[in-house]
Amino acid sequence: MTPAARPVYLDCDTGIDDALAIAYLLASPEVRLVGVGTVSGNTSAAQAARNSLALLELAGHTEVPVAVGAHDPLAGGFDGGVPHIHGRNGIGDVELPEPTTRPVAGTAAELLLRLAHEHAGRLEVVTVGPLTNLALALDAEPGLPALVRSVTTMGGAALVPGNVSAVAEANIANDPEAALCVVGTRWDLTLVPLDVTLEHTLEESDRAALLQSQSPLAQALGRMLDLYFDFYLPFYGRRASALHDPLAAAIAVGGVHATRAPAVPITVDAGHGPGRGQTVVDLRGQRLATVDHEGVRTRVVLETDAPLAPHLIERITGAAAATG
Ligand code: BDR
Ligand code: CA
Repeated sequence: MTPAARPVYLDCDTGIDDALAIAYLLASPEVRLVGVGTVSGNTSAAQAARNSLALLELAGHTEVPVAVGAHDPLAGGFDGGVPHIHGRNGIGDVELPEPTTRPVAGTAAELLLRLAHEHAGRLEVVTVGPLTNLALALDAEPGLPALVRSVTTMGGAALVPGNVSAVAEANIANDPEAALCVVGTRWDLTLVPLDVTLEHTLEESDRAALLQSQSPLAQALGRMLDLYFDFYLPFYGRRASALHDPLAAAIAVGGVHATRAPAVPITVDAGHGPGRGQTVVDLRGQRLATVDHEGVRTRVVLETDAPLAPHLIERITGAAAATG
């Protein structure tokens, strides 16, 4: 971490892969994690905040403010999360020491707005959960886009099936109204969908490297992944896991590069039919070459340059040696 490091705000529903994204951001000298806001998704917003604080404390980063964000999506109520994927506590039922730090006063949307003013024009927003907090922040302050440098969002499915319905990915499906608002806002938004996140995996050898690391954070991540690997067994045909949230973090940081990410119109189906939660990405005419639509500021990542796993493990275990 250097004084010139770029300020990053992370919005998350921590979450096993969210935990990997937090660890990666903390270990990346290019950026400084200046705030974490939580939202219900994998677990409740309150539990996600507790998890985030515990992870930050394990890494020795108690200076990072964590704010509890929206418990419920814009329409309807929180569905209780996905304990069969992320465990009853959201982090694979791994018990971390009770954090000594507490969430800051105010909501995640308020924290985001405060940080956007403090780092006006420089703040980079990374979202790896439902987009409720961003929609609330935009509603509270329509001038937010002018303060934010970029938004990188793990969510959606452009040309592949969804993971919670035939067409919908979880982060978008958990609050389609918020996602519609966020992708419809004029700011530089990069969508990191299932098309690419499912192509990057952690394997048993990576989990072993985490478990053998000297870092308490890396070791805890290795233990959390046990449950996540079980969930993905029928999908990959082996114990492994997708790298949804850390891929969005790595693309935002620049540790992995998007080699194909056309600027195209994106919208979200917020209706109540079978398409609810679908990201509708206009990829017409992209067959022979990547075509950027003039004036469009939403990009969708369709290809990346390198496997994330070795870079992720190197950063997380390397950072461990420095801080652990
Ligand atoms: C996304 O949904 C959550 O369960 C994961 O943490 C990730 O952000 C993948 O669809
Ligand atoms: Ca997540």
